[in-house]
Amino acid sequence: MAASLPASWAAFQSKLAAAPPATSEEYWLMVKRQFPLAENLLYLNAANVCPSSRPVLDRHLEFLTDFHRNPSFQNREKYDGRKESLRSKLAKMMNAGAGEIAIARNTSEGSNIVVNGIDLKEGDEIVITSHNHPSSNDSWKVRAKRHKLVIREAQVPVPASSPQQLFDTVAREITSRTRVLAITHCTSTTGNRYPVAELANLARQHKLWYHVDGAQTFGAFHIDLKAMDCDSFAGSAHKWFMGPLEAGMLYVRQDRIAELWPSVVTAGWSDKVEGARKFEVYGQRDDPRLVAFEAAVDFLDLIGMPAVEARLEQLVTRLKQRLSDNAAVHLKTPREWTVSGGVVKFMVRGKSTRQLYDKLYSGHRVALASTPAGESEGLRFSPHIYNSMEEMDRAAAIVKSLS
Ligand SMILES: Cc1ncc(COP(=O)(O)O)c(C=O)c1O
Repeated sequence: MAASLPASWAAFQSKLAAAPPATSEEYWLMVKRQFPLAENLLYLNAANVCPSSRPVLDRHLEFLTDFHRNPSFQNREKYDGRKESLRSKLAKMMNAGAGEIAIARNTSEGSNIVVNGIDLKEGDEIVITSHNHPSSNDSWKVRAKRHKLVIREAQVPVPASSPQQLFDTVAREITSRTRVLAITHCTSTTGNRYPVAELANLARQHKLWYHVDGAQTFGAFHIDLKAMDCDSFAGSAHKWFMGPLEAGMLYVRQDRIAELWPSVVTAGWSDKVEGARKFEVYGQRDDPRLVAFEAAVDFLDLIGMPAVEARLEQLVTRLKQRLSDNAAVHLKTPREWTVSGGVVKFMVRGKSTRQLYDKLYSGHRVALASTPAGESEGLRFSPHIYNSMEEMDRAAAIVKSLS
């Protein structure tokens, strides 16, 4: 029966109970062992997709099997409660109200619900940045074409020298016609962290809808949505959150929910659907996946988001240090943790980014991402809690050997 905890879950809990402090390498090697990553793979692509831990995967498989053994309405009744417990746990983790959380399919969907749901009129202006993901920028451009809105795209300098410079780049695009500010908490392009709280003040002063794309921070940072003071925030479960594919969340601040139209309406809809739930009436969901998402919350909660964030800082700081020991490396991501996140973007002078990307995987089994050309050109490493310090050193040594 799908109510019991898998053996891997119980084993992880007992290992945690006996574990050394979360500041020790031994602790994180124990965490690393919870992941089914291939032994000969150096996985550095959390900004794209993360593996799930074995406890999360086992819980997913257990519910998936149970679902397909007995797909009756009766056996699926439990999922209503499961969805609500996922919502409450996400809300608690991020300091929000449960009614402010919609279970979306990913960041793209969450951001698109906002793009298409806000009432706007011809001539209204939307401020975006050149480093937002297409799920935020292209969707706004499509909407602008359809409803004759004006897009003002803040051009982000590479490298950005300070949070103030990022703030100023955005602030200068705001006019008396601006209605929306859509930014990215940490970018996937060069790994800049935006001064989200300061931008919230700016958005309040100008009475804007303030949307934050959290694809690169949800599951990586200890996020406090009340402190961030945004109107909406979207994240994906399959990235840093280490949950299932095609699951995600959209936060909409309580006093803004009534202003936002749903994008998909189907069976289950009514004006009485409460809170942000009205943005997730999609028809039949993949119910077992929602349990896997809940398990991913539980897994992160057992470790604690502050500890996860602190470990990510350690890993990234070490990686940047080791990469910078190599004079041929040009870091595109700021060195300081307070203005960056889990993304480390760099180029190797005199070497083709495309060829290095290929060699790193084919010759050394280092899984990464790359931008082959343009101002954000470079190789992208994005480690997470399943990586070790030794892997940070090894990745930098491999880059050196190819320089
Ligand atoms: C900043 C940012 N926003 C949104 C997305 C889209 O995420 P998803 O494909 O999970 O919707 C990504 C994906 O890499 C991203 O980096």
